Amino acid sequence: MPRKSLVLLLAFLLGRIASLAAEPASATLVIRADQPGAVIDRHIYGHFAEHLGRCIYEGIWVGPDSPIPNTRGIRNDVLAALRALHIPVLRWPGGCFADEYHWKDGIGPREKRPAMINTHWGGVVENNHFGTHEFMDLVELLGCDAYITGNVGSGSVQEMMEWVEYLTSDANSPMANLRRANGRERPWVVKYFGVGNESWGCGGSMTPEFYAANFRRYNTFVKNYDHAHPIYRIACGANADDYGWTEVLMKDAAKRMNGLSLHYYTLSGGDWDKRGSATEFTETDWFNTLRRTLHMEELIARHGAIMDRYDPQKRVGLVIDEWGNWYNPEPGTNPGFLYQQNTLRDALVAALNFHVFQRHADRVAMTNIAQTVNVLQAMILTEHEKMLLTPTYHVFEMFKVHQGATSLPVELTTPNYGLGAEQIPAVSASASRDAAGHVHLSLVNTDPHTAITVTATMAGQTAAAPTGRILTAATMNAHNTFAAPDAVHPVPFTDAKLAGGRLTATLPPMSVVILEL
Ligand code: AHR
Repeated sequence: MPRKSLVLLLAFLLGRIASLAAEPASATLVIRADQPGAVIDRHIYGHFAEHLGRCIYEGIWVGPDSPIPNTRGIRNDVLAALRALHIPVLRWPGGCFADEYHWKDGIGPREKRPAMINTHWGGVVENNHFGTHEFMDLVELLGCDAYITGNVGSGSVQEMMEWVEYLTSDANSPMANLRRANGRERPWVVKYFGVGNESWGCGGSMTPEFYAANFRRYNTFVKNYDHAHPIYRIACGANADDYGWTEVLMKDAAKRMNGLSLHYYTLSGGDWDKRGSATEFTETDWFNTLRRTLHMEELIARHGAIMDRYDPQKRVGLVIDEWGNWYNPEPGTNPGFLYQQNTLRDALVAALNFHVFQRHADRVAMTNIAQTVNVLQAMILTEHEKMLLTPTYHVFEMFKVHQGATSLPVELTTPNYGLGAEQIPAVSASASRDAAGHVHLSLVNTDPHTAITVTATMAGQTAAAPTGRILTAATMNAHNTFAAPDAVHPVPFTDAKLAGGRLTATLPPMSVVILEL
């Protein structure tokens, strides 16, 4: 173990011993089962897979001739892991890649497909072996919805129009017949279509006015060939706190869109030059990462307030189609591949964001963490034939009970966790009621030193004896490796009790808990 890691481990263990000796702090919670809120769209638990580094190639696609067990070229281990998450939607092909992707290069016999340079991500040669048919096969194998992003930056209106016809038309028409000639008789269902990506940046460096006009133009030709499944059109939205972008898009184009996107990445040091290491970090980095990720609350509130002025009925969904931690790439890897490890800190970031999204379930229609495999805050890491599940994966799996459930407001009184003058709430909580009437409560303790006893009551429903699971570890930077793939995984949580209608749960430091009441 490197010396720095050893020092960090000792410091954390000392803190842990001190915390065990100390009395737990306390928090109180009322679950308002008598005041149900909005339904938590299951697409809030969505994913994003780009032609970037080893996300698609190796991470998902190994080809039908690979010794790695696969279904028509898609690796079986990754398929099974994603199915277990009940993955609701997958966004593809980018990202920045989407605005240089020409879909006709990705159809027909694979050996005849032209190659291209992936200019954004390492300058590698993309062979187009994973294209429209392979992606739609993947979503059908996963049983999830497709979210395809079209090329506005370097593509034509005609190209986008023809792609939609190729994908969704059942007519005796040129593109539908081309699809049939390539082996797919029936059209596919494409539920979501993005009209460009980051059009303010890698997608064309456009002003909001110029993009709004382009959105109106391109979107006109995203036709609904399949009237039983009208396409949900997503306009490119703001970069983090660019509220001016949202204002212009809502003013100029709200009536023509179903969703407006938002991208926000958590940078541990608060700057693209200070992204920090995924695994070698201090408590200050831990604290700042959690504090910065909670900025999502303000972003949703403020973008949402602008949307409310133009769309008080909340018809247009906020689609946070890129979010998560963005650290420095792992040393020794191609910096253009954005490969990073994933620790307990990432698990807390995922859980905190889900609590924010669920609080705003009336406006947030979908989110897509960046990205599914081997890129940024991934669910899954692969090394040739090996695969591991990250701490972030486990949060998605634990929280899947919230998908499609009705959010229940929570009234929480919590101590703060702070460093210096800055403070964040030590406890974060979110509750929902599923179709069968079960209430699920998820809890996070952000404090790495202090256990917290949460005392909870429920208004409007009687709680049953709780069962649950917990994700925690002895160190902040605990993570799974190919040598120890199961170092961080959920285990049964036995520290929750019900007595006299009152639930008490003692959350160990730096933990994520899911309870069924
Ligand atoms: O997710 C990685 C990149 O981040 C995406 O390609 C782009 O949209 C964003 O800048």
